[in-house]
Amino acid sequence: MKVLGFESSCDETGVALLELGADGRPRLLGEALHSQARMHEAYGGVVPELASRDHIRRVLPLARQVLAQAGATLADVDLVAYTRGPGLAGALLVGAGVAVALAAALGRPALGVHHLEGHLLSPFLAEPAPQFPFVALLVSGGHTQLLRVDGVGRYELLGETIDDAAGEAFDKTAKLLGLGYPGGPALARLADFGDESSFSLPRPLLASGDLDFSFAGLKTAVLNQVKRLGSNVCYQNRADLAAATQAAIVDVLAAKSLRALERTGLERLVVAGGVGANQRLRGQLDAGAGRVGARVHYPPLALCTDNGAMIALAAAMRAASGLAQTSRDGAFDVRPRWPLTELTLQGAAEHPAPMAL
Ligand code: KG4
Ligand code: ZN
Repeated sequence: MKVLGFESSCDETGVALLELGADGRPRLLGEALHSQARMHEAYGGVVPELASRDHIRRVLPLARQVLAQAGATLADVDLVAYTRGPGLAGALLVGAGVAVALAAALGRPALGVHHLEGHLLSPFLAEPAPQFPFVALLVSGGHTQLLRVDGVGRYELLGETIDDAAGEAFDKTAKLLGLGYPGGPALARLADFGDESSFSLPRPLLASGDLDFSFAGLKTAVLNQVKRLGSNVCYQNRADLAAATQAAIVDVLAAKSLRALERTGLERLVVAGGVGANQRLRGQLDAGAGRVGARVHYPPLALCTDNGAMIALAAAMRAASGLAQTSRDGAFDVRPRWPLTELTLQGAAEHPAPMAL
């Protein structure tokens, strides 16, 4: 089964062609991405209307590029997948509109995918692929969640952020330190030159006993430090503060992920979403999991942030599991707000039949 996937939920246009073999293993045949980060940088964050317009400009050239790279044509496509939500409504509509129109023209089914399910399943594109069941730490710009994952579409929420997401905490504190957008990678680079022990920052909810997160207070703590330093803030101060911020965020994410493994008795942790690219987080999770005999799975580094491959993969895995609610009539909608746990409610049967294409 060959799936053409479109991602356009935020500021990245991603397209990919993926083949799911008869053995259930995915193979990426072609992949292309355009990041709008530089366009939005001037505004310090994503401007939704600019994002939609840029997706329109990029999506078809990227699709052509992917097919050429894969040595394939549209006739080879069995299923067209797109991000149905959550995300920016206008941006989602671009990918959804193109995908559904393409599917209708080709006489193929179209399938709307949950963006976070894409992130969640993206480690199946790495070697060795994880096996169900596992604990998943989803850490992106908009979400921070711990889930128990028993199979495709079988997701149980264990804990989540009660305010800002981890990526948002990186982005907001980066902004306070005068770094560009997106702040996460920039803050991580600056942190390499800092001493985290120079500032003492809170570890919110670390000892709360549950698996929830809170990052809004951390932003305030960093703001107070920046105000205290005033105009005296030098490069080294900023690097030290970046290191202390990264350490605080990572300490909480790692501690709660390990606690989730302990609570569920599971031995596999899957990390997905943009913040999963953070090397400090990876190091701390690998070390902590190693101590309890658990293993951590990540997507390939380039597929941590938004991309089309994870959307094609989630669609392929859903179709293969018989969970796909495809459309063939050209009708579609997008879900800018869409809790991941709703997918489980939509009937993740124990023994579903694979979809006939
Ligand atoms: O998953 P993603 O690409 O988009 C969303 O669905 O939100 O995640 C983007 C987030 C941004 O907040 C970005 O700052 C963060 O991931 N991020 C990082 C790193 N790379 C991306 N945060 C910390 N360290 C990184 N290396
Ligand atoms: Zn994402």
